[in-house]
Amino acid sequence: MKKTLTSTLLIVAIAICISETLCAQESPRSRESFNEGWKFIKFFNAANETATSDRETANLQLPSADDSNWRSLDLPHDWGIEGQFSDTLSNETGLLPWKGIGWYRKHFVISEKDKGKRIYVDFDGAMANAKIWLNGKFVGEWPYGYASFRLDLTPYIITGKENIIAVRLDTKNFDSRWYPGSGIYRNVWLVKTSQLHIAFNGVFCTTPEIKKEKGVLSVSAEVENHLNESVPVTVKASVFKLNNRFEPASAPVAESEDVIANVQCMKGHYFRLDIPVPEPVLWDIDDPELYRVVVTVLQGTTVADKYETNFGFRTLNFTARDGFFLNGRRVEVRGVCNHHDLGALGAAFNTRAAERQLEILKEMGCNAIRTSHNPPAPELVDLCDKMGFLIQVEAFDTWRTGKKDKDYHIHFDAWHEEDLRSMVRRDRNHPSVFMWSIGNEVPDQNNPALAKELNNIIKYEDNTRPVTSGCNDGESGTNGFQKSLDIFGINYNLFNYQRFFDLKDNALQGMISTESTSTISSRGEYYFPIKQGDLYNSLPGKGIFQLSSFDVAYPGWAATPDQQWTLLDKFPAVMGEFVWTGFDYLGETTPYYDDVTDLAKAQTQERKDHINKWLEQLGTREIPSRSSYFGIMDIAGFRKDRFYLYQSRWRSDLPMAHILPHWNWPERKGQVTPVQVYTSGDEAELFLNGKSLGKKKKGEYEYRLRWDNVVYQPGELKVVAYINGQKWAEDVMKTTGRPYQLSMAADRSAVDPDGKDLIYITVRIEDKEKLTVPRSNNLISFSIEGAGKIVAVDNGDATSHDPFTISSKKAFNGLCLVIVKADKGAIGSFIVKAESKGLKTTSVKIDIAR
Ligand code: GAL
Repeated sequence: MKKTLTSTLLIVAIAICISETLCAQESPRSRESFNEGWKFIKFFNAANETATSDRETANLQLPSADDSNWRSLDLPHDWGIEGQFSDTLSNETGLLPWKGIGWYRKHFVISEKDKGKRIYVDFDGAMANAKIWLNGKFVGEWPYGYASFRLDLTPYIITGKENIIAVRLDTKNFDSRWYPGSGIYRNVWLVKTSQLHIAFNGVFCTTPEIKKEKGVLSVSAEVENHLNESVPVTVKASVFKLNNRFEPASAPVAESEDVIANVQCMKGHYFRLDIPVPEPVLWDIDDPELYRVVVTVLQGTTVADKYETNFGFRTLNFTARDGFFLNGRRVEVRGVCNHHDLGALGAAFNTRAAERQLEILKEMGCNAIRTSHNPPAPELVDLCDKMGFLIQVEAFDTWRTGKKDKDYHIHFDAWHEEDLRSMVRRDRNHPSVFMWSIGNEVPDQNNPALAKELNNIIKYEDNTRPVTSGCNDGESGTNGFQKSLDIFGINYNLFNYQRFFDLKDNALQGMISTESTSTISSRGEYYFPIKQGDLYNSLPGKGIFQLSSFDVAYPGWAATPDQQWTLLDKFPAVMGEFVWTGFDYLGETTPYYDDVTDLAKAQTQERKDHINKWLEQLGTREIPSRSSYFGIMDIAGFRKDRFYLYQSRWRSDLPMAHILPHWNWPERKGQVTPVQVYTSGDEAELFLNGKSLGKKKKGEYEYRLRWDNVVYQPGELKVVAYINGQKWAEDVMKTTGRPYQLSMAADRSAVDPDGKDLIYITVRIEDKEKLTVPRSNNLISFSIEGAGKIVAVDNGDATSHDPFTISSKKAFNGLCLVIVKADKGAIGSFIVKAESKGLKTTSVKIDIAR
């Protein structure tokens, strides 16, 4: 037995050796996660500042600096989200302590066998003003916290010994209109290559020909030569179809001819390969089929590099008057804007958290994402490829003129070219990316020449997609600024659509609503009477920091979904819309901002008077709100009523009806309590306790049905929706009993113990009949038995100051969320338990599975 085991081990060892050698021969390139084992320390004040409290220690980049007492952590990490919400901080950036100076250090060894290789570190994003040293030597910097960048560590790397990389981040010198997060909040990679290799994001795939029987993949591959001599180089490529698990088939579907060229010493060279691919299968939002190209670089017969990237075959056609076409089919862009935070996780990127958001959006019928107002984590773009979303990748919120003292405008002149190139080169092979946006409501809308310059930078890196910018200046669509863009992006401005189309000069200019609606609401909150329109007239009353969920209130510049759709239906030339926003996000607590913190900073008497008057109206000095009200989903990802309004239009073939509000109004007995129905049907009949309250039919430009004079009595509301006179869908809303029990529903039954995968568990407070009790806010405590951890808890309430990391939370309007993960490497399962005083306890079992 022992002998057999020894010989088996020997065979395995030899096999590993052989395959390692083969792999090494096949491609010297490796790309490893560099997320684990960092040390972290944070200071409130920079070393050169006069304040003495919590001041940065000098020379932390030096190898001799002592980091033994620093906190140990793995990336991605956002130090702001770990802090306490505080009224002394700004509502606009989420009441969180994200400002400061953060240092990260990592000790690592590069093996002797990597001697002679090039060693790079790739940051997917570091917030903000990153400066990086290796072994005490300055390697480079990148101010923009949303950019992905590479630094070359090779000159200072020591093989066979310990190296120390030190990263200094400074969010004190950065301002934002929303919660930006802080720290190394995205993934970091260590990349090793030979001296002759494909440049950073140096492969560009385009598909110049797409026919049923044949497509052509055109590859531009930039090869860098770091050898001390010029060498002849051969480049070739193989194309693989990916299956529905996005794994490549074993055999290629197409291979290129070899292309040979001399690559000068210390220079780059672009190789072009045109590869016919038989019967290309199209990528589409309904069927996201992907391919992978593997590019091989040979020096003589030795493989110097192998580089792979996914791509897809699909056609984009943007017309001026007929809308947007994907693969020859007109597709209305049904998009949402999202900021990058992931609610309770803050800015720290997590793939599963992003995937869950996309799943919810897909269910709603959303088909596009605008990454407002910055380049996203690369994994989000991968997810869009795989899940079938179009994505408009956006660069900036400001150009040369700022919106805040220290926002991007202070870096614009020095960095915009690098930042734009970084964005485009990273994401240009993704079939999901269908447009680039160079800006959002930039104050430089009076500078078309600057817009043109940015457009040209993008075109230099990718001339296959149009460039837009979200414009809020009423004149931008008609004063010539629109001409600097391929597609005019209009934010709000419904009254300017007609003007745009009336201008003869715009006959060839397409238009999309880059931002729409900005309707505000709190999940499960309803106030009477319904107040439509500008949000300042729709506030529920003193001391209340929620907003009614009837979906008819918005800031002065914005609109209801219904008003937006009226315009889209009147102007079908508009390619579609990106709703502000899919999910509530940290910060930008419109309309609840401007409190005593802002009063202290107010520069003019006029501003002071304005804030004082406002606070008097609200009956407070301090505003508790820390996250937005704009989301179709709340910050926990729970669906607000608006989800169903969008679903009724965006999935018009899905039989659905949704009644609002809830029907627990003991204090409103005998009072008029309006009822609305969001349905994909065209007509519906409402019944209260079996009695018909009449049939209503949607008129022209009507998107919801209203029964404005319903007199409240407890019991059952039922709606029967029709389409073309045929029964189509039903919904029932019942008055519930008292809270009696808890229920738990996990979004998946098994979790990967990779340390990253997450399970989202929705907890409901139910009555005896298992109906969710709508206005319940019982305190729920969570615990875990077995190899799992609570990552965060949330309830979607924009005013809650509980840290997301505690293990108990009050429900908000009947719901609570607990996010859990498995211990790294664990096996088996664990149990998540929810308890609340006076309620029946519940638990859910989560399996651990790779
Ligand atoms: C827009 C802006 C967004 C957000 C939104 C709120 O004008 O582009 O970033 O601030 O208003 O309504």
